[in-house]
Amino acid sequence: MTTRNQDLMKLRHKHVPQGLAVATASFIREARGAIMVDADGRELIDFAGGIGVNNVGHCHPKVVAAIKDQADKYLHTCFHIAPYEPYIELAAKLNALAPGDFDKMTLFLNSGAEAVENAIKIARYATGRQAVISFENGFHGRTCLGMTLTSKVKPYKFGFGPFAPETYRMFFPYCYRCPMGLKHPECRTACAEHLEEFFISHVAAENVAALIIEPIQGEGGFTTPPPEYFAKLQAICRKHGILLIVDEVQTGMGRTGKLFAIEHWGIEPDLITTAKSLAGGMPLSAVTGRAEVMNAAHPGGLGSTYGGNPLSVRAALAVLEILLEDDLLRTAETLGQTLLGRFRALQAEHEIIGEVRGRGPMLALELVRDRQSREPAAEEAKELVRRCYEKGLVLIACGNFGNVLRVLMPLVITEEQLERGLAILEDAFQELKKESAGKLAS
Ligand SMILES: Cc1ncc(COP(=O)(O)O)c(C=O)c1O
Repeated sequence: MTTRNQDLMKLRHKHVPQGLAVATASFIREARGAIMVDADGRELIDFAGGIGVNNVGHCHPKVVAAIKDQADKYLHTCFHIAPYEPYIELAAKLNALAPGDFDKMTLFLNSGAEAVENAIKIARYATGRQAVISFENGFHGRTCLGMTLTSKVKPYKFGFGPFAPETYRMFFPYCYRCPMGLKHPECRTACAEHLEEFFISHVAAENVAALIIEPIQGEGGFTTPPPEYFAKLQAICRKHGILLIVDEVQTGMGRTGKLFAIEHWGIEPDLITTAKSLAGGMPLSAVTGRAEVMNAAHPGGLGSTYGGNPLSVRAALAVLEILLEDDLLRTAETLGQTLLGRFRALQAEHEIIGEVRGRGPMLALELVRDRQSREPAAEEAKELVRRCYEKGLVLIACGNFGNVLRVLMPLVITEEQLERGLAILEDAFQELKKESAGKLAS
């Protein structure tokens, strides 16, 4: 007999610290594609994808087959001690696929935060400089440097200081709530040009090793820079010999309909970090970048016992095959168009949806109490997430104010599952609207 959700939750409170918050009361028994089944046998439609990890779906047969095949051969030798071919094969593939018409190299690690840490180490070594600039509302992980580069204080940083030195934070182009009080396109992307002023009032350009930025902010609320933003930012970086690190941990591996989200902006970053969907549910992260930068650090300066574990790299090779050869990127594009249509229609019906934004199927709804004042509707977002879960849909919120509903469903979701999930979401909005109209009338 298996233990039920309620009993597992009691045990969870006894044995696992509360710091590790959980979003639902469901303990998963099995999962396939875009469906999870919990310990009580309840079926859930997954619009969260393990926070952007399951782009190819839960237990994709090709990923599972690759893991099983590898498990029969060897599990771990440690690449530092006895290297193995799949690591090289995956590195070569990522080097060829990552944007940039230059030689590249790849280093594998375990988590997104570890990739971020290593990208910064590499950039500091290669430039001989120490300072790093990250962005308002950005999220880069929970290690000391990761949370230092992260913007939101509660829950990510509060009580966990001191933080890593020589880090600075600049405006991000959050156009819906422009930090400079301007309006796009009349602003002429002044937030990118602000970097030159930043070098006067915060840190000297010649001390800056790198800028680290998400193409679309994940935890920060799917804030999406305007088309010309990254080219401007990169031009300033190049002028000052600063490396541009693009953190694709959440946006990468087809999430936006392209393998790397930064391809939408047509620039070639110096370094790219990936993780999450890279290995279809296995722990794996990567730093991919300019060969001369990646190769700067001395032998032994980089590494990790488990980094590029054989099971994970085999899973990642299968993920790339699914995305590229099985045409999942094209499916993602179509999914994005469907979602955008439905979300725009929902916005037309519900005043509470202030903005629909994102790229491809990486879309979010920012909720506001009033479209004029744009007061964040965080409680309402929480309530919608709760109602969706009760009706069998797992959905998560994000954003600095917690008022943004984001979708990160597996790209393999079937039409029927998508339809069911969207119907639940639409119902939840309808209920909330009726109730608030009722409250106003009484
Ligand atoms: C953009 C970005 N960078 C880094 C991380 C940290 O990844 P991990 O949780 O695997 O350490 C995340 C996680 O959400 C992320 O979204």
